[in-house]
Amino acid sequence: MKDISNITTPSLANIARPAPFELTLPYGDFRFSQRLYEVIHDWGIPTEMEVTYLKRYLPPTGGKALDLACGAGRHSVGLALTGHTVTGIDIGGFTIDLARLHAQSHNVAVDFRVGDIRSMPLPSECDLAFFICGQMTHLSPEDNQAVFKNVFRALRNDGAFIIHLEKLEPEDRLNRTFWYREIKPLYFENPSLVHREQYYFPTEQVKLIRDFAIDSVTKASALFGYSEKEYTPDDIERLAARSGFKVISHHGYYDGAPPRADSRNGIFVLKKR
Ligand SMILES: C[S@@+](CC[C@H](N)C(=O)[O-])C[C@H]1O[C@@H](n2cnc3c(N)ncnc32)[C@H](O)[C@@H]1O
Repeated sequence: MKDISNITTPSLANIARPAPFELTLPYGDFRFSQRLYEVIHDWGIPTEMEVTYLKRYLPPTGGKALDLACGAGRHSVGLALTGHTVTGIDIGGFTIDLARLHAQSHNVAVDFRVGDIRSMPLPSECDLAFFICGQMTHLSPEDNQAVFKNVFRALRNDGAFIIHLEKLEPEDRLNRTFWYREIKPLYFENPSLVHREQYYFPTEQVKLIRDFAIDSVTKASALFGYSEKEYTPDDIERLAARSGFKVISHHGYYDGAPPRADSRNGIFVLKKR
């Protein structure tokens, strides 16, 4: 079959331009949560290094941690294994089921809950909360403000809040359209043929994806989409200040190295002061 990936269509000029964060993925749908996990779970990121980094902000054992958008609980289980009390929250029912199995298989207890971190009541007096590995960039500043305020209430005084951000790549800063064929299905039960529109909003530093997906077997079709924002250190300072946090460190990666101009990642440590 002819490879149709990356066939670009010439212009977005005649298509109504969406607004940043106008569309969001159905994270709360159980089957979507399963398919999303199956598409992204083998992304090869260094869980051990991340967990070691998180432990810097906990006592050696017996700390209380909150894993926001925990997915299948790889950080929660890592911390529980060193004797910390952990609550992991994710909006996806499938990933929480998987996280519970994961904890069971390691013989540790973790309190995994299904919920939306923007609004659900969180446990109190935590030493550490973390919102890492990509998800923060998919939320609007308003939604992140809600998360920060929620987390502020969950931490004890001097508790740490760790966030991880990724910068956009040059190809994210383009307006373009193209067709591609999914290898693993994300939108429907079977792989889809997807018409992707990508918009870049330079003022907001937001990439928006609007996908029109057609299930290759059932021919069902629907529109999906999401946004991804590059949050600058100034954006983080603003979000932090508005919710009562102070930014105390900024690292380029989980090895604790300082950020460089070309660092793709930014890890910020905020404290409740
Ligand atoms: C890229 S995965 C990362 C999972 C995990 N932090 C990890 O590093 O393995 C992002 C997760 O965010 C969850 N998520 C998205 N929006 C959410 C929300 N508003 N509240 C809670 N979880 C959310 C998704 O269900 C998904 O499991």
